Amino acid sequence: MTRMKEERKAENITWHDGTITIEDRARRNGHYPAVLWFTGLSGSGKSTLARAVEEALFARGCQVYVLDGDNVRHGLNSNLGFSDADRAENIRRIGEVAKLFADAGMIVLTAFISPCRADRDRARRVIGDAFLEIHAACDLAVCEERDPKGLYARARRGEIAEFTGISAPYEAPEKPELSVNTGHRSLDECVEEITGLLASRNIFLDR
Ligand SMILES: Nc1ncnc2c1ncn2[C@@H]1O[C@H](COP(=O)(O)OP(=O)(O)O)[C@@H](O)[C@H]1O
Ligand SMILES: [Mg+2]
Repeated sequence: MTRMKEERKAENITWHDGTITIEDRARRNGHYPAVLWFTGLSGSGKSTLARAVEEALFARGCQVYVLDGDNVRHGLNSNLGFSDADRAENIRRIGEVAKLFADAGMIVLTAFISPCRADRDRARRVIGDAFLEIHAACDLAVCEERDPKGLYARARRGEIAEFTGISAPYEAPEKPELSVNTGHRSLDECVEEITGLLASRNIFLDR
């Protein structure tokens, strides 16, 4: 088990493994764990897609849960803002929480812009093989046209500083496990592509 040494303050702590294996949990759940890490511009469809995939997986009996941006900022990360350091810490904590969910045997879907490649790559390192990066690929113009939360309009008026895609960079993934064209494909088509990815990775066990 690799742990991130640089961030740890406490000394005299020892990792303690349990006796229930990943296989034990997979047999009970009917599937292996996975972390579907959605990344993309605001309005690209991360939340919509994560919820739709969650519904589809739940309907087939999977243990599945969504971690979504604003929800996590209400609680776990309520002490974080939008400075560079806080954005990085936001994503670091999400990665660690997703790892715990995966250790518990679940399929977890994370829906955060997560614009920095380095932050996503750290989550990939922490989580390991279960990590599947999914790019909600959608042109900025389409996201801005949708503007489901009215944030682009506010960012254009200068009311939101460092808004991803407008006044802050978005680093698209170079080699995501999957890129879904949320700008041109229907929601159902995108959901099918994602469940297809899970099937091709042998996440589902035959019961
Ligand atoms: N294929 C698609 N996948 C996801 N969302 C889509 C798709 N096509 C259209 N949409 C719409 O795009 C918007 C995406 O908003 P949202 O999911 O809140 O984005 P994000 O969470 O990435 O900020 C929603 O209004 C959704 O209905
Ligand atoms: Mg969202």
